[in-house]
Amino acid sequence: MPDIPAPPEQRPHARVVSFRSRRDALTPARQRAWDAWWPSLGADAGTELLDTAAWFGRAAPLVVEIGSGTGTATAAMAAAEPERDVLAIEVYRPGLAQMFQYCAAAGVNNVRALRGDAVQVLTDQIAPASLAGVRVFFPDPWPKHKHHKRRLLQQPVVELIASRLLPGAVLHVATDHLPYAEQVAAVGDAEPMLRRIGFDSPSMMLLERPVTKFEGRAERAGSAITELLWGRIEE
Ligand SMILES: C[S@@+](CC[C@H](N)C(=O)[O-])C[C@H]1O[C@@H](n2cnc3c(N)ncnc32)[C@H](O)[C@@H]1O
Repeated sequence: MPDIPAPPEQRPHARVVSFRSRRDALTPARQRAWDAWWPSLGADAGTELLDTAAWFGRAAPLVVEIGSGTGTATAAMAAAEPERDVLAIEVYRPGLAQMFQYCAAAGVNNVRALRGDAVQVLTDQIAPASLAGVRVFFPDPWPKHKHHKRRLLQQPVVELIASRLLPGAVLHVATDHLPYAEQVAAVGDAEPMLRRIGFDSPSMMLLERPVTKFEGRAERAGSAITELLWGRIEE
């Protein structure tokens, strides 16, 4: 399968994409998982508004996870919040295949996956003020200065995310990269649709995260994890 193409230049939020091009090949086991689950649980990102009630087979609060990676957190958190639906958005096909394996092993049936650029998906496929929450766990930090423009969580995308949250819904970010954490904190705090909240605040979605693959590596390397939470203001 070819790499996901960069969105057209005219897209307001996605001139520079936040993901890197990676090998797309699947191991035999992941290929089997892909073949088994992709047709019903996955779809390529498109331009039509999502009909989540039809796709999930019910009307339930929808949580979006941007950059789900291998889906460790996605599957574990979806298992712990069966009353909500979870939409994982990821460009990396082997990661999505692994997520299907975790979901199948955990008996989780409230996860669906869109393959593509989350910025495009939020722009075109998710209605304003429709989400119970958005999770962004360990977004690529793009540490080199010349790559900072690739960071996902900059003002236009944080504004886009905020606009998709229901009043009272939560944006939850975790990162092990302190300079990126400081940047995201400043951008989130400056966003008029958001206000910082604590972990003891009432939330429309689960806030307890399991340790993900990237987090495990970061902890072993001695990096501190920063967790940031904002609620969408009630208007
Ligand atoms: C560092 S990994 C973290 C994965 C996972 N959240 C975890 O904690 O293990 C970041 C992931 O975000 C994905 N990603 C980056 N930008 C994205 C975008 N615009 N849309 C969808 N996925 C994206 C990358 O493909 C990568 O798998």
